[in-house]
Amino acid sequence: MKREKYLDCEQKLVAMLSDEQDDIVKMATVVAVLHKKFDYFYWTGFYRNLDDELVVGPYQGTPACMRIAMGRGVCGTAALTRQTQVVENVEEFHGHIACDAASVSEIVVPVLSGQELIAVLDVDSTLEGSFDAVDAENLERILSKLF
Ligand code: SME
Repeated sequence: MKREKYLDCEQKLVAMLSDEQDDIVKMATVVAVLHKKFDYFYWTGFYRNLDDELVVGPYQGTPACMRIAMGRGVCGTAALTRQTQVVENVEEFHGHIACDAASVSEIVVPVLSGQELIAVLDVDSTLEGSFDAVDAENLERILSKLF
């Protein structure tokens, strides 16, 4: 079920963005498509890597933290390690940054363009354990095709 939804998003995004070069246009479109597709996506957005600081980019959801230091929280950890972070319950993640107390589980996927880390995609859910390897695998693949 999840897999089909991700494939559907991928087809739509590849078709919409095949000729697009601008990263903000791409990020805004990715967020709009994903956020609408999955009921458990409570906050969906990008933090861009600007001079080694994560700065909020296009997102949908409640107002978010604007700047996150590299290495801090789930986003900063994903950015620093360049590894997708899947967190079942944010209370158990040491150093998690609570922008909205309603968020319970979270996935953060690094976005690379070649060797360069340009951003992370962060998705939060109000339910525990919403994200797993299927989300990680599919989001990584979709982002690698677009950036
Ligand atoms: N929880 C994140 C911060 C970003 S917000 O959830 C939108 C973190 O710990 O990195």
